[in-house]
Amino acid sequence: MTKKILITGALGQIGSELSTSLKKIYGNDNVITSDLKTTLIAQEYLPYETLDILNRKQLFEVIKKHNISIIYHLGAILSATGEKNPQLCFDVNMIGLYNVLEVARELNIKQIICPSSIAVFGPSTPRINTPQQTIIMPKTMYGLTKASGELLCDYYVQKYKIDIRGLRYPGLISYKSMPGGGTTDYAVEIFYEALQNNFYKCFLKADTTLPMMYMADAIRGTIELSEADYSKLKNHSNFNFAGISFSCQDLANEIKQHLPKFSIEYVADFRQEIADSWPESIDDAEARNQWGWKAEYDLSKLTLTMLENLKIKLNLN
Ligand SMILES: NC(=O)c1ccc[n+]([C@@H]2O[C@H](COP(=O)([O-])OP(=O)(O)OC[C@H]3O[C@@H](n4cnc5c(N)ncnc54)[C@H](O)[C@@H]3O)[C@@H](O)[C@H]2O)c1
Repeated sequence: MTKKILITGALGQIGSELSTSLKKIYGNDNVITSDLKTTLIAQEYLPYETLDILNRKQLFEVIKKHNISIIYHLGAILSATGEKNPQLCFDVNMIGLYNVLEVARELNIKQIICPSSIAVFGPSTPRINTPQQTIIMPKTMYGLTKASGELLCDYYVQKYKIDIRGLRYPGLISYKSMPGGGTTDYAVEIFYEALQNNFYKCFLKADTTLPMMYMADAIRGTIELSEADYSKLKNHSNFNFAGISFSCQDLANEIKQHLPKFSIEYVADFRQEIADSWPESIDDAEARNQWGWKAEYDLSKLTLTMLENLKIKLNLN
């Protein structure tokens, strides 16, 4: 049967790239993008529906209208924005997810892909090589919505037999799309500032080490998880998903190898506390064993790819 896919939050950092990859695989008209935006949408995202996931009736109608069988549920409020507006974060990440799950149950949706995050972990979690199954006591509103979201998704797997799959994304890095208000945003901003101004003021301390991943790896892994043999999955909504771990200073040093005049200053803001509550590196053995996950980009390949492509994008020689 032809897969008909709906992406919520499709104009965000992940959705804007994932939609292109899904369209290539499943056909342009079989991937419907949706987001809050009501104004003109670029041709590459069409067909598009304006869809607020807090509006359950609208969600029901869009899914029915397009005969959707798979939902990639990306509509969310991220960590830094969530700490500034906890109520909005709770509403979108919890009530929005509940709406998606309920409508999926009513309309017999075949599969839901629902991203989680390394933000499910908290300061009491072991920080190095953090296992998938460990202490989950997040201290941010975003983290608690993600941890509860995993539990809610697993409840729907167990009670209603819906095929729901989720990954704990680390910080994602891409030259194509901008991050949407997370704590790892520095790792994208730094490339723009390095190329345009030879200088970056970093909002985290030099030695802050966090799990990260290049977007192409993240997109490939997400689609691989969706295509994986369901009978081989022992876990569903909470896969640890690792790429590379590096500190702000590691990244700055790598950039300096290509741009010797680049300099960096570290002035930590409220995001430092969030970063300090997250793991430095995560163990993704379950993803590797259960569905064959393997990242391809290391720090030097990521840095080179970002710099080369951003030079073209920003018209720099
Ligand atoms: N980007 C990362 O580094 C990262 C890391 C960990 C987890 N994640 C998770 O991946 C998913 C996608 O993240 P992203 O980076 O693309 O986020 P983003 O902020 O770039 O995009 C989220 C999109 O959701 C939309 N949205 C917000 N409220 C909505 C609503 N009420 N109805 C419909 N859409 C709404 C926004 O308009 C935005 O386009 C989220 O679940 C996020 O928690 C992302």
